[in-house]
Amino acid sequence: MLRFNTQSLLRTSIATMKAAGKSIGLVPTMGNLHAGHLSLVSAAKAQADYVLTTIFVNPMQFGPNEDFSRYPRTLAADIDLLTQAGCDAVFTPSIEELYPQGLDRQTRISVPQLSTLYCGKFRPGHFDGVCTIVCKLFNMTMADTAFFGLKDFQQFFLINRMVADLQLPIRLVGLPTVREASGLAMSSRNGFLSPEQLKPASGIHATLQHIGGCLRAGERDFPALERQALESLQAAGLRPDYFHIVDATTLLPASADSRKLVLLVAAHAGNTRLIDNLQVQLHGSDLPLQPVCPPRRLL
Ligand code: PAJ
Repeated sequence: MLRFNTQSLLRTSIATMKAAGKSIGLVPTMGNLHAGHLSLVSAAKAQADYVLTTIFVNPMQFGPNEDFSRYPRTLAADIDLLTQAGCDAVFTPSIEELYPQGLDRQTRISVPQLSTLYCGKFRPGHFDGVCTIVCKLFNMTMADTAFFGLKDFQQFFLINRMVADLQLPIRLVGLPTVREASGLAMSSRNGFLSPEQLKPASGIHATLQHIGGCLRAGERDFPALERQALESLQAAGLRPDYFHIVDATTLLPASADSRKLVLLVAAHAGNTRLIDNLQVQLHGSDLPLQPVCPPRRLL
């Protein structure tokens, strides 16, 4: 597997691949890779000729009191995992490489309104940081397709909106959440959980499933279900930030007409903030929705 630290080496390699007619699949990550990340690499390998993973703990998407400095950095293990997974190349830039003017002078991308809801309400500026770095990675890698996890449902929705609004020539693929046997969604932050916090943390998925079951059984009092979910998270020993029943096609609060729902949740186990979601198709199964962008080849 090739490794690049600089944009110029990255661009040279990509240009060679493009000249040879190879399609580029991009998997953006912040490292500390687990089976969820590797599922994206494996999907990318199935759909692209050349798979590039990026590992960059993006300071712009962390708030001043968040866990940027303690975010797990395990580069050697990540490179081993990517090599075993058959990834073709990894881009591991420094902060200076990606933000040469410094964070304050960096042009930012902001998706209005939607980036201030749910996680955006509790993490002001977070999604501007995500969209800015993702757009920069799209431009640097000239990827044909980028692969994201639906575990970060709001993130994937906003990136789709950014791509549509800015007419970016890239196809996006969203992939299902990979979970522990307990139901806990895999996350780089799970390593912060003590053994005593693991059980309550699995209550997040249990709560999602319970409320999903209520909706499929015909319950439609969304505020009452949201209150019930918050109580159940608290009873499990968690500190919820929010639990919302949302229309998966608009990311706005669900209405009586909504058919594709997504239940979005964020809750703290001790000092660790966890997020998860469950898609629920009313009058049907709750299989993952199709990617928001229909598959198409643009480049
Ligand atoms: P990170 O949390 O490292 O996640 C990288 C990608 O892996 C994201 O698309 C995320 O949705 C996906 N992912 C994480 N856990 C997953 C799981 N359990 N199952 C399936 N996919 C999972 O998300 C980010 O990094 C950053 O915000 C980034 C997009 C890289 C921008 O900095």
